[in-house]
This record gives sequence, structure tokens and C-alpha cells, in this order.
Amino acid sequence: MFKWRKSRVVKAVALATGLLTAILFGSGISAQTSGSLDAGETFDVEQAFGPGDIKDGYESADYQTQSRSLLSRRGIKQDLIQYIVKPPLGLPSVPIPEDNPVTREKIDLGRLLFFDRRLSINNTVSCANCHIPEQGFTNNEISTAVGVEGRLVIRNSPTLYNAAYLKHLFLDGREISLENQVWQPMTARNEMAAPSIGYVINKINRIGDYDGLFEAAFDGRGADIATVGFALASYQRTLLSADSPFDRWYFGKDESAVSESVKRGFAVFAGKGQCAVCHQVHHDHALFLDHKFHNTGIGYAVSTGEAMIGSNQTTRVQLAPGIFTELSNEKIKSVSRIKSFNDLGLYRITENPADRWKFRTQTLRNIALTAPYMHNGQLATLRDVIDFYDQGGISNELLSPFIRPLGLTDQDKDDLEALLIALTGTNVPQLVADAFAAQIGELSIDDPNWAHENTLGY
Ligand code: HEC
Ligand code: HEC
Repeated sequence: MFKWRKSRVVKAVALATGLLTAILFGSGISAQTSGSLDAGETFDVEQAFGPGDIKDGYESADYQTQSRSLLSRRGIKQDLIQYIVKPPLGLPSVPIPEDNPVTREKIDLGRLLFFDRRLSINNTVSCANCHIPEQGFTNNEISTAVGVEGRLVIRNSPTLYNAAYLKHLFLDGREISLENQVWQPMTARNEMAAPSIGYVINKINRIGDYDGLFEAAFDGRGADIATVGFALASYQRTLLSADSPFDRWYFGKDESAVSESVKRGFAVFAGKGQCAVCHQVHHDHALFLDHKFHNTGIGYAVSTGEAMIGSNQTTRVQLAPGIFTELSNEKIKSVSRIKSFNDLGLYRITENPADRWKFRTQTLRNIALTAPYMHNGQLATLRDVIDFYDQGGISNELLSPFIRPLGLTDQDKDDLEALLIALTGTNVPQLVADAFAAQIGELSIDDPNWAHENTLGY
């Protein structure tokens, strides 16, 4: 079960909040905790990060939710193409497919599609429901994703920051480009559940918000199987985030950018901890990945039901506001789908038995913002991840030779954690503010998709 550990969350939130305030001040836009943007509009920085609902005091009768309606949010649109032109410090130049050069028109169109719930079968789920901008373009609140009508997805939503560089998409690597990738979530029964590609295109053509936009972005060409992918890929490609304290120290040579603990943490990362074998750092850039697949034992452990690190005998469960009970983990497991699902990872693509339980190395950039961790969100905190590697992963006949007991001291672990927290990009607040400015595609009564009017042509 995914346990939310508040102390770490607060750290990440505080870090990001501080950054946003600093950056907005720096760029001349006045923003305090609740700064004003235009007359009458507010952008509450503190609510822009972390879960929408903190749930503190949930059991008290006068509890008030912190969640706000999507439509009440206001952000600040950014010129995202700047990141493609000049990627933030620490990132290499962005690979762009020849047939899909990035333009502002495509980015804007892609953003509109990304936040449009109407692309799902029942107009409820957009890409952003699982890749939540203020939660690192992932979902901090659940270990594995949930699609339309509560349908379960077997994996954790990965971050979309720096997805532009991935050579293999999805944790088993089954897709090869952002352009192609988009149709999987749109048509998967347990994600957005559109019955077909044509159904989505038909819907887009009937939504007035898109009138003329495809034609303007694609030289007169309308919405089709390629242009929808081109637009969504263009927006996602701009989600480049680096220039973190680590980058300013390591690549920018600014000794004061990070603490001594972070510097020691990097020594552990590259040395005793062996992390850099897979989460690679080069002399002029770092993606913290190797584009390869490895067996760390998590997939294996799930398939055999073996106990995971950090799992207690019982878990405190809240049944109703103020009413708690201790439930045995065995009972919880018995109703959890993850525990019974044998996710074979890369094997599903190659059908090579040696590839069982191998998953693609994930980036560590912005890792403080993207809990929970691993392909199934099994590990709640960065400390859990560090403990997991320190114990040598989970032993199995196909375990990667680079995963073995590390003998880290408490100091090493603290330092490693400090390093991971120092990987949050300084432009995260801009990317979130940009996302908050996006139009949310919601169903309205005059919409051709309105369920009571059969105007979809079926
Ligand atoms: C129901 C939740 C959900 C929705 C909706 C969703 N995604 Fe995802 N997304 C996921 C999950 C879970 C994965 C990992 C799946 C896997 O590895 O098999 C993923 C993976 C991805 C990846 C690959 C990232 C990587 O590290 O390999 C990209 C890119 C992506 N999604 C973009 C999108 C876009 C664009 C949309 C909308 C068209 C979308 N997603 C809609 C949950 C979702
Ligand atoms: C053998 C290669 C390898 C080594 C060595 C390695 N990792 Fe990983 N790491 C991976 C793979 C593969 C994943 C994805 C696993 C999954 O999704 O189940 C991953 C995932 C992670 C994640 C979670 C990413 C996310 O978004 O969920 C963190 C954090 C992490 N590693 C940190 C470390 C640290 C710290 C070390 C060193 C102590 C380390 N790794 C050593 C391959 C490696």
C-alpha cells in the first residue's frame, strides 16, 4: 500500500514553492504566496504543488477541503519553445523528428489536447488526470493509475518531464516515439477508453474549440492519426526541466549552489552506491538514465508475493472520518490487484525469458516531485528507494549484476537523499504556471458531445 510520508512531501513542496516565488520575482512578475496576476485573478502558489487535498484534520467536523475546481485555477502562459531552442543547464540538445519540427502553433494545440477531457469516451479523463502538472506530471496520490470509471491501470504514471529524450517509451519500452505513443492511453479501455482512433478524430472535428487550429499548425491539414500525435508530442517535448541546484554545481561550477551533503551524496551516487551505472551522468549533460532495461527484483517480488521492504505487519486504515483500524497486510493484499498481477516488463515485448521483470531505467530529475516510485509505485519515499537498493534489491535468478548489497551508512543515505532532492529543476514553477493557464476541455450543454444529443453521427 502506498503510504504518504508527510515530512518528505513538505520538503518537496517547500522547495518548489520557494523556487516559484524566487523565479516569479526574478522575472519581474510580482507573486507572493498568493500573488495577483491580472486584475481580479489570483495564483495560489502554495496550492500549486503537492496533492490538492492535504487531509490534515480530516476527522474533525469543521474540516474544509483544500481542493479547488480546475476551472478556478489561473496560471501564466509561458513561451515554451524557448526550452527547445536552449534546453536548461544539464540537458543535451533535444532530438526532434524530421517530420515534426516544433512550432508555437503545434505546442498550443498539443496543450489544448493534453488538457481536454472530451477526448475520453465519457468526457471525464484527459492526459492531465494521470500526468498532473503540479505533481511532477505524475500522480503523487496513488501508486498505480486509474482511468475512466475507476478502471485500474497496472503501472504508476511516469513523469513527462524530459520525456523528449526517451528512446523507448513506457516502462517496458513498447513505443518508440512521443508521436506514436498518444494513441495508447486514448484507446486503452482502462485509461481514456476511446473505442477507436477515428472516434477521437471525429470528436475533435466536432468540437468548436479546435476550429481551424490543426489547419493553421499543419499547413492546411486537419486532425488525423498523424497530426494529433504531432501536436501532443510537440507540447510534451517542451516539458524540459533541469538547471537544478545539482546542475548549477556540477555543470555550472558554482560551489555554493548545493550543500556539502549533496556533494558527498554525489560521491556515493557515482561510487559506493553504483547508481550512476544505470542513472548516467556525462561530462556535459545528465539524463540520469541509460535507455536500458534492468531487473531490480520488484517485478519478481510482486509476482511471487514476496514481502517488500518497509512493509509492516499491519497498516492503519481510516474507515470513516476519525475512525481508524489496524488491518493486516495480508488482508489488504488480498483485495489489491497489483499483488496478483505478474507484470513481466520487457518480456512482454521480446518474449525472451531472460527479460522477465526488466523495466526501463527512469530519470531521476525532479524525483522529489514524483513519488511514489518504481513501475508500480511500490515505494513511497526516496528513503524507501535508497533502503531498497542498499539491501541489494530483491534476489532472483535474473537480478541485475549491478544490484547488490551496498553497505551504506546512515550518513551515506542522508547524503544520497539530499542529492536526489537537489535534482529539482528551477523552471518547474514556470512549467506548472503554464499548465495552470491551459484551457481545460470540459463538456458544456451546447457541446456536440453532450450525451443527450446524438450529434456524434452514430
Ligand atoms: C489513466 C491514466 C493515464 C492517462 C489518462 C494517460 N496516461 Fe500517460 N501514462 C500512464 C501510465 C500508467 C504510464 C506508464 C504505462 C506503462 O509503462 O505501460 C504512462 C506513460 C506515458 C508516457 C511514457 C512515459 C515514459 O516514461 O515512458 C507518455 C509520454 C505519456 N504517458 C503521455 C500521455 C498522454 C499524451 C496522454 C493523453 C493522450 C496520457 N499519457 C494519458 C497513465 C496515463
Ligand atoms: C542496474 C541499474 C540500476 C542501478 C544500479 C540503480 N538503478 Fe535506480 N532504477 C533502475 C531502473 C531499471 C528503475 C525503474 C525500476 C522500475 O520501474 O521498477 C530505477 C528506478 C529508480 C528510482 C525511481 C524512479 C521513479 O520515477 O519511480 C529511483 C529514485 C532510483 N532508481 C534511484 C537509484 C539510486 C539512488 C541508485 C543507487 C543507490 C540506483 N537507482 C541504482 C536502474 C538502476
